[in-house]
Order: sequence, then structure tokens, then C-alpha cells
Amino acid sequence: MKKQKLLFIKSNIIPALNRFLFNRPSPMFVGLFVTRNCNLDCSYCFIKKNSKDPPLNDLKERIDKIKEIGCNMVYFMGGEPTLRKDIVELTRYCNKQNMFVVMDTNGTLLSKELIDKLADAGMNSMVVSLDGINRARQSKKTLSDNPCLIEDLEYASMKKGLFIAVNIVLTGLNTREVIPLLERITGKGIIITTCLVTQPPSKFISYSKNTVFNKKQLKELDLLFDTLIKKKKEGYPIFEPIHCYEHMKEFIRGRYNWRCGAGRHFFSVGLGGEISLCPETKSLGVNIKGIDKNYYQTYKGMFEKRLVECNKSCVENYALCESYYSSHKLRFFLSS
Ligand SMILES: C[S@@+](CC[C@H](N)C(=O)[O-])C[C@H]1O[C@@H](n2cnc3c(N)ncnc32)[C@H](O)[C@@H]1O
Ligand code: SF4
Ligand code: SF4
Repeated sequence: MKKQKLLFIKSNIIPALNRFLFNRPSPMFVGLFVTRNCNLDCSYCFIKKNSKDPPLNDLKERIDKIKEIGCNMVYFMGGEPTLRKDIVELTRYCNKQNMFVVMDTNGTLLSKELIDKLADAGMNSMVVSLDGINRARQSKKTLSDNPCLIEDLEYASMKKGLFIAVNIVLTGLNTREVIPLLERITGKGIIITTCLVTQPPSKFISYSKNTVFNKKQLKELDLLFDTLIKKKKEGYPIFEPIHCYEHMKEFIRGRYNWRCGAGRHFFSVGLGGEISLCPETKSLGVNIKGIDKNYYQTYKGMFEKRLVECNKSCVENYALCESYYSSHKLRFFLSS
């Protein structure tokens, strides 16, 4: 656990020092697509499915490059990363480079055996999707569909020392599932995080002009955010800082613009090595092979131009980092 914390601190502090001392941002994490295949078909999913996975060696080269530009945290993205037979080997490769390894997963293929293998190979954290307890229309990511999941996640956290977060996508249909789910995970070494369903920016649907939630759902969300704030104050394991929920209330009514840190604090690498701001945005037309430590200065203009377009229509967990730092005591240092 101690090693996890040290690695996590290192992956945050080195980029901050690079920004602060040398005016040379290096990302806190890079999202690396390891597959676009999936065993589920969630109704809201923004991922375009693709059957061809990148070869292991190509992924290793990208990991080398991520390390080379000063980033110490790699985030496996998909599709469903656990579908890759070599996910344990890939984890081990990152671990050998002393990197903090995080993986997004729908949790359906997790077992204690796989958790053992991943943890022993050096997986540090998993963000596991769960949209509620009861079977739902939006996805098969519920406890009713996967009844052993909480027990497995508790094992991953308590016995294997992984940092485990459960992510709930709020679609307006599952608002009432959140608090019961929070109660179920509390005391098991698991933390909860919520994100609002996003419309892929390519559709250019803006929350402000065409909110995805109807009036009744907006009210239910307000109530949920208030309850989460209260629960957070009571010490429940909730990831988001309190002000994020206040921001969300405003955002879903088109009255708050998140400041997304994409490009500067993180970026995403697609199946062919192409860079994009985040998994939801189009490629910048630049391959990770061709970048160096000064990538941010080189592509700053491109990053910023894209952000102007997509920042209006998206609220993602990724945006959280900038929103978080903007009110952190060390904000002048961390987001300089
Ligand atoms: C694309 S999935 C990939 C990893 C894995 N298959 C899973 O579902 O966790 C990564 C995260 O994005 C979330 N997600 C997918 N589509 C979304 C959307 N339209 N809006 C917000 N989050 C979304 C998923 O619920 C999941 O937590
Ligand atoms: S499990 Fe993840 S990748 Fe698969 S369809 Fe659902 S959100 Fe998309
Ligand atoms: S605002 Fe940030 S998280 Fe949202 S689509 Fe743009 S780059 Fe992605």
C-alpha cells in the first residue's frame, strides 16, 4: 500500500515540478487504448467498436514513450481491457518501469484469480463500472448482473492493496440506484465516483442547449448531489470533492463551464498510437511515436483549439482534475 501511495504521489508531483520549474507540462496520466473490443453493449457507450487490437510490442513502445515524456501513470482504456489475453504482461511491463498502472473495466471478467495475477504483476488501481444494483435498461453493469463483484473488489482492495473506485454513469435512469450502491460498498475499501452521461462531442450536443435530462430527472439529480455532499461530509467513501457536485448542478442547466485539463494534464492514445485530447475526441493527427518532452509547447495551439469546441458539450471525470485543482490550496503550483 505504501508503494502505491509513493508511486501515486510521484506521478503527480513530477508533472507539477515540470510545469512549475521548467514551464514544460508533462501529463499526470496518459490514457492508453489497449482494445476497442467489448463483451457488453451499453446503450450510452461512446466507444466505436473495432476488432483489431494493437500488438503487445506496439503497446510497449507507447508505454516507453509515455515514460520518456515524464509521465508516470498509465491508464488502460477500452473497450474492455480484460479481454486482452496479455493484460497481465502489459501490467508487468509498466510496473518494471516503475509506473502507476490504472485500468478501466466493466468488471464482468474479474475473478479473484485474475485479481491475484494483476495485483502481482503491479496493477495499482481499477476503476470499475457499475450503474446500480437492480437490472437496468442502460447497461448490464449492475450488481444483479454481476452478484460477486463487490466481494471481488473488496478482496482486491483489502487483500491485494489496490485502489478501487466504482464509477456510475448518471443517465437520468439510475439516479435512485446511487445511494443504495454507496451503502453497499461502504466499509469494503471501495470508493464511489459518479459522472454525467456525455454525448460524444462529434454530435455537438451541448448540455446548455439540449440537456439530456428532463425536468423530473434534473430534480432527482439535484437531490442526489445534495445527498452525496451530505454523505461525503459524514465520511462516506466518495471520490469527488464537494464543489464538483455543486458544479454539476449548474452544468446540467448550462450555467457552468468546466475547465478541462486535456492536453496539459492528460491525453489519450488510440489503437494506432494517434493522440487525442481524451477518449471521446477525434485524433489530432499526431502519433505518439513522434512526440518528445516538449510535446505540449509543440501542440498547444491544436490542443486549445479542440478544447474550445468540446469543452462546451462535455462533462467527464477527466475534467475533474482541472476543476479540482482550481480550488485546491496548492492550485498555483499544481495547475501552473
Ligand atoms: C468506455 S468505458 C471502457 C471500460 C469498460 N468497458 C467499462 O465500461 O468500464 C470507460 C468508462 O466510460 C464510461 N462511459 C461510457 N460511455 C459513456 C458516456 N456516454 N458518458 C459517460 N461515461 C461513459 C463507462 O461507463 C466506463 O465507466
Ligand atoms: S462495457 Fe464499457 S466499452 Fe463496453 S459497451 Fe459498456 S461502456 Fe462501452
Ligand atoms: S472537454 Fe475534455 S473530457 Fe470533455 S471531450 Fe473535451 S477533452 Fe474530452
